[in-house]
Amino acid sequence: MKKVITYGTFDLFHQGHYNIIKRAREYGDYLIVGVTSESYDIERGKLSVHDSLLTRIENVKKTGLVDEVIVEEYLGQKTRDIIQYEIDTLVVGSDWIGKFDHLRQYCEVVYLERTKNISSTQLREKSNEICKFGIITDDADDDGVVKETKYVSGIHIESVYSDDIDVAEEFCNKYELNSYSNDFQQFSHELGIVYIKSAVDKRYEYIKKCIEKGLHIICDFPFSRDIAKCQELNRLAKEKNVALMENIVSCYLRAFTQFLWIARSNEIGDILSVNIAISNDYFKYTQSFDDMSVLAITAVIKLLGTKSRFVSKNTITDETGEINYGSIFFRYEKSVARIEIGAKIDLHNFLTVVGTEGCIVLEDDWWNTGYFEVHKKGVKKVDRRSFNFEGTGFRYLIQELQIMLRDKRYECNRLTDAEGEAILKVMNQTSD
Ligand code: CTP
Repeated sequence: MKKVITYGTFDLFHQGHYNIIKRAREYGDYLIVGVTSESYDIERGKLSVHDSLLTRIENVKKTGLVDEVIVEEYLGQKTRDIIQYEIDTLVVGSDWIGKFDHLRQYCEVVYLERTKNISSTQLREKSNEICKFGIITDDADDDGVVKETKYVSGIHIESVYSDDIDVAEEFCNKYELNSYSNDFQQFSHELGIVYIKSAVDKRYEYIKKCIEKGLHIICDFPFSRDIAKCQELNRLAKEKNVALMENIVSCYLRAFTQFLWIARSNEIGDILSVNIAISNDYFKYTQSFDDMSVLAITAVIKLLGTKSRFVSKNTITDETGEINYGSIFFRYEKSVARIEIGAKIDLHNFLTVVGTEGCIVLEDDWWNTGYFEVHKKGVKKVDRRSFNFEGTGFRYLIQELQIMLRDKRYECNRLTDAEGEAILKVMNQTSD
């Protein structure tokens, strides 16, 4: 029996998909189709997929030409599948010519000409489901957000709001948006999602206005310095079925979430300590002490939980009174954590988690990482994990929001309200 395999996303199933499946079938007696999982598509930067995995699998099955459907979940899985399923021929479209030649050592590789004038991308563009996106800002810098949204289809940045009309105009021209305003009603008209990046003392009012208008919100952390106000906003958002998400990108990155998952499972035993350093030289000194604290405290809270026994915070200021360096120490019942923040001095960035049975190491820009190492006690070989991700990571946050909205789910479980509160409590703590 000759076994054939082919792969694809098969979004918005179309004639091109049917044709390649039919022709793949003709190459053998048994056809397996690998359909990409949602997380794999997200990981490889394909953020525009419309149909759920289930729908895409159903559509492939409906052709009646397929003997088995499998899910493609990670880079490099093809080699495993070809060996495991004893595949004779891999069939792919001509858009992949040359890309799978390395698999010729395992099976025959055939590239078939694509069906002309049709693709999922074309269909998605025609379907015209565009969600309009607006930005509220105090300055004319987008921090890469405009470019990031371009990678998520179905989202279009329309307008910008600033209290200062000159800033709004400058932003609008710089990033070629449709409109700008310093009038909230005018700005928010027809929008679906708003990203708030203005100063912390203004966020509460903006968020409230957006919730009242039923707009979904992404906002820099924290929503307010006042925990009671944050709680009020979270409650209002829930009442109104509005998504209210913190812009803490690491929570949405696959490598970081995998790292958290491994650290909290028993792979390195019980966690004894977490050590973190973050330095402003990486950000070319553009970040505030608070911005960097958020990233580091989030990692500690995510790893060790919200119930620390005590926290001690120390900052050292320079002659101008600005924070030069900060250190935060956490004591938990069975573990400790230590954060070092270089606000004006340079540190070597790293994050390590030490467990009773090993440790995990993230080097350099660990908050935005695609790579980490797991060292297990008594095991010589280092377990290296790497995950693709593109850009600043903001696109993955928007993608998560899109999935939530599609499923009519308005609460995001990547960072719970309790975790948000715990982070803010530490940020609000004054120096000892
Ligand atoms: N395919 C094809 N002819 C087309 C479109 C796709 O032969 N007009 C093939 C691809 O080459 C691939 C398989 O169908 O082997 C699955 O492709 P997929 O990437 O899911 O479809 P596209 O329409 O190319 O999707 P997109 O526009 O998102 O890239």
